[in-house]
Amino acid sequence: MARSILITGGCGFVGSNIAIAFRTRGDRVTCFDNLSRPGSGLLCRRVQEHGCAFVRGDIRAPDDLKKCKGDFSLLIDASAEPSVLAGSDGRDALYVVHNNLTGSVNCFEWCRKRSVAVIFLSTSRVYPYDRINALRYDELPRLFRLASRSKGVSGSGIRPDFPLDGYRSLYGATKLAAEFILREYSMNYNIPAVIDRCGVIAGPWQLGRADQGVFTHWMVSHYFRRRLAYIGFGGTGKQVRDILHIDDLICLIDAQIKVIHKYRGEVFNAGGGARAALSLRQATELCRSITGNTVPIGSVRRNRPADIKWYITDNRQTEQEFAWHPRREAEQTLVDIYGWLKSNHALAQRLFRVNL
Ligand SMILES: NC(=O)c1ccc[n+]([C@@H]2O[C@H](COP(=O)([O-])OP(=O)(O)OC[C@H]3O[C@@H](n4cnc5c(N)ncnc54)[C@H](O)[C@@H]3O)[C@@H](O)[C@H]2O)c1
Repeated sequence: MARSILITGGCGFVGSNIAIAFRTRGDRVTCFDNLSRPGSGLLCRRVQEHGCAFVRGDIRAPDDLKKCKGDFSLLIDASAEPSVLAGSDGRDALYVVHNNLTGSVNCFEWCRKRSVAVIFLSTSRVYPYDRINALRYDELPRLFRLASRSKGVSGSGIRPDFPLDGYRSLYGATKLAAEFILREYSMNYNIPAVIDRCGVIAGPWQLGRADQGVFTHWMVSHYFRRRLAYIGFGGTGKQVRDILHIDDLICLIDAQIKVIHKYRGEVFNAGGGARAALSLRQATELCRSITGNTVPIGSVRRNRPADIKWYITDNRQTEQEFAWHPRREAEQTLVDIYGWLKSNHALAQRLFRVNL
């Protein structure tokens, strides 16, 4: 049966890909966005070309959300200031709080008034970086490897029961606060809701930058032969992340929508998992072999605020709950980004000249 879905942040990387995938399967999809992310105007045209409706507005303004009229059954909240560095120098602190917390609460309030279910795209950044960095690691020639076991973490990755006491960045804190509010809304007002704590997501149509969308940034820099730098943890590029391909996230959300009536704000990890994990050094090797290009890579020893030495998603609970499994390994995701750049060369040239 066709679903009627509102996607806030529907002209961003994640929102626009979900919108087009669901619209293509026959759902009615409306994308709501203030077009604040550079390049989102282009994704806005793209979603409309695929038959999605578009409403321009800001989630910080409840009256803008009222412009979304219709009989919606689900809201997917994919609107955020997604950079972990946002707010780190204090100047844009209130912007991050208003955008990521007040804005999301406005979305939940919109859902409460209309009895609309919610899927909230949260982040692995809710897990405190100081606790993660304090774990013991072996330093291997190409990557850091976890050498200790403690509550909520094993070689398979970080689980949702990893302790939450610690520092996580204003980005992580606003997303965690929004999670807490959504849980209360969901339970108190009987609104079906699922929270996905996503790790690094990547894929075609991501307008990746050094501070957000790093693996796309890595591939784009190789493709256009641009200089890169390993930043933090001694500047050797051994820090590890797993990559979730956008298409695997879409499969998960699709599975969750089908049973969302059962959930009241439960939290699930969503990442590429151990099979899709790699260090920046390993990403460099893959980007070189996929593009045939070698770019100069500088080295900055000092960490940036909230940098993480190692993060792999332990998805086991999510996989069991939704009979879902991320299928694409890191190499496949990088190959797909390369294919997208190649088949949209002129557009990518324009886009990334603007963004870099
Ligand atoms: N990309 C990732 O690796 C990743 C990882 C974990 C979680 N997430 C979460 O997924 C969601 C989508 O991230 P993304 O990578 O697509 O980011 P994005 O920047 O590409 O998309 C966000 C969109 O939201 C819009 N937006 C921002 N503030 C808004 C506001 N006040 N009102 C209306 N629209 C607004 C932007 O214009 C943009 O189009 C975010 O909530 C983010 O926290 C992303």
